[in-house]
Amino acid sequence: MSDSKRVAVVTGSNKGIGFATVRALCKNFDGDVYVTARDEGRGQQAVQDLEKENLHPKFHQLDITSKESIDKLKEFLEKNYGGLDILVNNAAIAYKMKSTVPFSEQAEVSLGCNFFGTVDVCDALFPLLRPHSRVVHVASRAGTITLGNMGKELVSKFRSSTLTQTELISLMNQFVSDVKAGNRDANGWHNSAYGTSKLGVIALTAVQARAMAGDSREDILINCCCPGNVATDMYPQGLKTPDQGAETPVYLALLPVNAGKPQGEFLGEKKVIPWLIDGAGMNFDPL
Ligand SMILES: NC(=O)c1ccc[n+]([C@@H]2O[C@H](COP(=O)([O-])OP(=O)(O)OC[C@H]3O[C@@H](n4cnc5c(N)ncnc54)[C@H](OP(=O)(O)O)[C@@H]3O)[C@@H](O)[C@H]2O)c1
Repeated sequence: MSDSKRVAVVTGSNKGIGFATVRALCKNFDGDVYVTARDEGRGQQAVQDLEKENLHPKFHQLDITSKESIDKLKEFLEKNYGGLDILVNNAAIAYKMKSTVPFSEQAEVSLGCNFFGTVDVCDALFPLLRPHSRVVHVASRAGTITLGNMGKELVSKFRSSTLTQTELISLMNQFVSDVKAGNRDANGWHNSAYGTSKLGVIALTAVQARAMAGDSREDILINCCCPGNVATDMYPQGLKTPDQGAETPVYLALLPVNAGKPQGEFLGEKKVIPWLIDGAGMNFDPL
């Protein structure tokens, strides 16, 4: 075990913004950087592509919807590094607007991957975080747009400064069950499964940062961001390149030692988006 060597993990990094995040971390982070992918072949290909740029990431399989896969990564990190220094939760899925998959299925699958998968990765890997670690969730302004279209009662629950992870999980489960029961609109939800999943991630960030305030490990910063409108397989009409989309996630991943802030915030273009204020962060039309 080389427990002094620093290590960074980027989920869903075989392509798109995750791949560009690994590229930037390989150039700017003093430690090992892991491409992770649910498909081993696609992940190894990404490593080879970065090798051609004279960058030297490593690979580990990770499907964020599989607890077995998450546990294997955890054991690997424990055994080989004795901890974790940077975690970028980038992996996500989005149904296309024209998808004919029933909305109830879209709701379950989108939240299952984007929200619950992220929660499971965090629950498993947070105990490994060393002092001065940085955690970044790649969320989306779609989350704040979704919040702006929800009923008042739900909005105040998501914005509550005392919201706990257990309460947030039950809110997200409630979305799926309301959708299945045909009560989505009546109960104040918005019509975006992806947006709801990303709102969950934004709210999770605040919840986790509050919990971290009572942790004995010093200087662990947890933030989330919107990468902007980025041309990837998820959103081919995007305007930014993946490297440009990776700028804010990488900025947050490399916040200097004892930076102190941001903590528990949602950022776009490296600036805090004050989503707890009415109407804030909603003047954008991304995914
Ligand atoms: N593009 C935009 O304009 C935009 C805007 C706002 C937010 N975002 C967010 O930015 C992040 C990256 O998106 P992107 O645009 O780069 O999309 P992308 O090119 O589709 O990449 C998504 C990545 O996530 C992986 N993934 C999906 N499900 C996974 C799972 N269960 N376990 C592990 N990996 C999984 C994909 O792997 P496979 O290759 O195996 O599918 C892929 O590597 C996402 O969180 C997205 O919501 C993007």
